[in-house]
Amino acid sequence: MSAVAEAVGSWVKMDGMTGTAGEYRLYRELAGWWPLISPAGGYAGEAAYLAGVFRSADVPVREILDLGSGGGHVAAHLTEHFALTLVDLSAEMLAVSRQLNPGCTHRQGDMRAIRLGRLFDGVLVHDAVDYVTSEADLRQVIGTAFAHCRPGGIALFVPDYTAETFKPGSGGGGSADETGRQGSFREWTWDPDPADDWIQVEYEFVLRAADGTVQVVHEAHRLGAFSSEVWLRLLAGAGFEPEVHAGAGPPPRQDTAGEMPANLFLGHRRKCGRG
Ligand SMILES: C[S@@+](CC[C@H](N)C(=O)[O-])C[C@H]1O[C@@H](n2cnc3c(N)ncnc32)[C@H](O)[C@@H]1O
Repeated sequence: MSAVAEAVGSWVKMDGMTGTAGEYRLYRELAGWWPLISPAGGYAGEAAYLAGVFRSADVPVREILDLGSGGGHVAAHLTEHFALTLVDLSAEMLAVSRQLNPGCTHRQGDMRAIRLGRLFDGVLVHDAVDYVTSEADLRQVIGTAFAHCRPGGIALFVPDYTAETFKPGSGGGGSADETGRQGSFREWTWDPDPADDWIQVEYEFVLRAADGTVQVVHEAHRLGAFSSEVWLRLLAGAGFEPEVHAGAGPPPRQDTAGEMPANLFLGHRRKCGRG
């Protein structure tokens, strides 16, 4: 949701609570608004880019595990080319995704700990990785990705923020459907303490039901902003050959089209005898 950020000079702390990912109202009782708040169409460009990166793996990529798949908005643009298994903590978000992606396998679970007992050609951890705010938890998520990535496969991590590139900002978005429902948000991002690994986003959601009833919800989310050094060290520590791909650099492969994410960390799980 942070694609439309712009710098602002001052901050007003809002009333919302800062909780953990499993407690945020956005992913619980407000989950049905996700398709309007952050429409799936907005993920097409980035998904196209990520598909190209998956294709650059040492093995043909057919099966992908998406950890923290949310409403399945990224996944929806990948199903034409790949078979996806979607994992999320929130039963409500999985229900939203099932509507959009009926052909995908859905599993409820925590990306820090889940073990599906099988391997995939590729693993994707898109913006759900933002909800990892400690190095210990990030190590666990990367461990989950490694445990499910077959030799020759590739894992992609797409955090919205890194310590080096974070800038306070504001933005917003939203959409309406044919029934008259409207869901929109405004966001303000700030860093309460640059010495730690997380930043804070203050959200305001304006949700208009088809009968005209409007609710306004304030909620503060705590999101990770790790340095590239932490990312690369943890990826290597898990057994991946790490690669960082930040916004200013060239595409990692010639065959990647689409919209390059602001931050992309790759983990190559090399076959035995390589790298
Ligand atoms: C911004 S949404 C993801 C949206 C998604 N990229 C999409 O395409 O719709 C973040 C998601 O991360 C999930 N999440 C946060 N922490 C998680 C964890 N530890 N394990 C699994 N899912 C988690 C939340 O439940 C939420 O659905």
